[in-house]
Amino acid sequence: MLGYDFPVPPHSDRGNLITFEGLDGCGKSTQIERLAAVLIQQSVPVLVTREPGGTPTGEKIRQVLLDSSTHGLSPMAELALMFAARAQHISSVIQPALAEGRIVLCDRFTDSTEAYQGGGRKLGSDPVLALHRILCGDLQPSLTILMDSDATASVERARRRNRSRATPSGTPNDENRFEQENRAFFERVRNAYLVIAAREPHRVVVVDARGPAEATHQQIIQVVQRKLKLAANTT
Ligand code: TYD
Repeated sequence: MLGYDFPVPPHSDRGNLITFEGLDGCGKSTQIERLAAVLIQQSVPVLVTREPGGTPTGEKIRQVLLDSSTHGLSPMAELALMFAARAQHISSVIQPALAEGRIVLCDRFTDSTEAYQGGGRKLGSDPVLALHRILCGDLQPSLTILMDSDATASVERARRRNRSRATPSGTPNDENRFEQENRAFFERVRNAYLVIAAREPHRVVVVDARGPAEATHQQIIQVVQRKLKLAANTT
């Protein structure tokens, strides 16, 4: 991983929030790990975190949200729980890290809610964006990497991964509730993501995640390098 030139962010009380988005099984976790390794090697202060989760309370909420033994959760209750976990995450993890000048790499953020609850569950974008303003102070990532992938292939990959990880239903490792949704659900999620990207091209960069992991990694490195250099030059 040598040869990437990431500047150490200038001393500042504003780090950068970089979020990763995409369908289940698109390969986000691998890419975040690889990017974090490169940044750490360049002595860039990094914090890796995820949603739903990222705090002790958030991880409990995650278990309720993702466990396939959670039945009959209404879309609005699901939306509220996503935001409850996020509000806690922002106040106790993300904001303090940004205040220290860190680069926060967050696996999913409010775009996931707009895509999954707004698009997938058909709640629309308005309640999501309104709650984001009220509960999250409208915190916007400096950069969002949307890993675009084929819905069927991604979800199959996520299902296989979770099957191999899962202990019998109802235990904490069962994170299958969303993967049980049908293809139409994931097509709506993907479309909602693409609408967000078209609406906010200055923030959201779409990366083709259908090829080999190494090719995706190279695209991400270029995008992040451009962003961080720019941030360093403008602060
Ligand atoms: P994640 O652990 O990122 O799953 P994967 O590694 O399979 O991509 O996310 C868990 C699930 O939670 C995923 O199916 C998407 C869903 N989710 C929402 O529906 N809304 C949200 O706001 C967030 C953050 C996640």
